[in-house]
Amino acid sequence: MSKKYDFTNKVAIVTGGGKGIGKAIALGLAECGAKVVLAARDKEALDQTADEIKQKGGEALAHVVDLMDTAQIDRLVETTVSTYGRIDILINNAARSYLKPLMDLREDGWDKIFGTNCKAVFLLSRGAARIMKEKGGGRIINITTIGAVRGGTGMAAYHASKAALSMLTKCMAVEWAFMNINVNAVGPGITKTAFSQPLWQNPEMEKMITGKIPKGKIAEPADIVGPVLFLCSEDADYITGETIYVDGGALANY
Ligand SMILES: NC(=O)c1ccc[n+]([C@@H]2O[C@H](COP(=O)([O-])OP(=O)(O)OC[C@H]3O[C@@H](n4cnc5c(N)ncnc54)[C@H](OP(=O)(O)O)[C@@H]3O)[C@@H](O)[C@H]2O)c1
Repeated sequence: MSKKYDFTNKVAIVTGGGKGIGKAIALGLAECGAKVVLAARDKEALDQTADEIKQKGGEALAHVVDLMDTAQIDRLVETTVSTYGRIDILINNAARSYLKPLMDLREDGWDKIFGTNCKAVFLLSRGAARIMKEKGGGRIINITTIGAVRGGTGMAAYHASKAALSMLTKCMAVEWAFMNINVNAVGPGITKTAFSQPLWQNPEMEKMITGKIPKGKIAEPADIVGPVLFLCSEDADYITGETIYVDGGALANY
């Protein structure tokens, strides 16, 4: 990704910033000058991404957090502010899912999915928004999915949690616009990461999925970065409560 925006002096938190789409977004933000706090559970992946950013001359902090734990979410906000003094951008990218029919999904599985994909987004966004308000505003981008508006088998709790996240995005946008905090979402279609590997690792399934995507290929994490950076930029100053689907035309094809 070429440097299209200038986020010098901006501080960004990227949840799930050590892997997959979150890593690509973190690298993109850092390339544009942002100081990036990478927040997830896997320390090794976080350290590796932070090193990559630093080797390219950027600034990054690896922060281990389990987003199922409210105290750890609070600590993420505190550490970001004590290290960098502010929060300008929050990318709520971390998520989890299980590939199980509803009949086999356990109650704690449902809770983990909603806890990570929805409740943690509320708690972290609220914590970050309190800081953004003091500093004159900010940007929150929630990573949703085309599955928020399209049903399917085997991932019902995930779809439902992302549909809830879409409404949370709109409500946060409405409530926080007066504080100059823009809240938007980016909804990828199927993207080549470990998360979705069970769906595309079999060549026949990949062919079937690709056949439904007008652009004729499954997305790479880098394909998701540009729209996120745009929503973080001044060019998107008057956009709030919106979702940009980045799906190669998949939703349009139904
Ligand atoms: N890949 C796709 O096809 C696709 C399609 C549409 C939307 N998306 C969305 O894109 C986003 C990123 O997914 P991905 O494909 O890049 O998958 P991924 O590589 O598995 O990323 C998920 C991230 O969430 C983090 N995470 C999960 N539970 C956490 C917890 N309790 N606390 C802290 N971090 C946690 C993981 O980090 P740790 O394991 O280190 O904690 C990981 O970095 C998700 O919101 C997903 O819904 C993906």
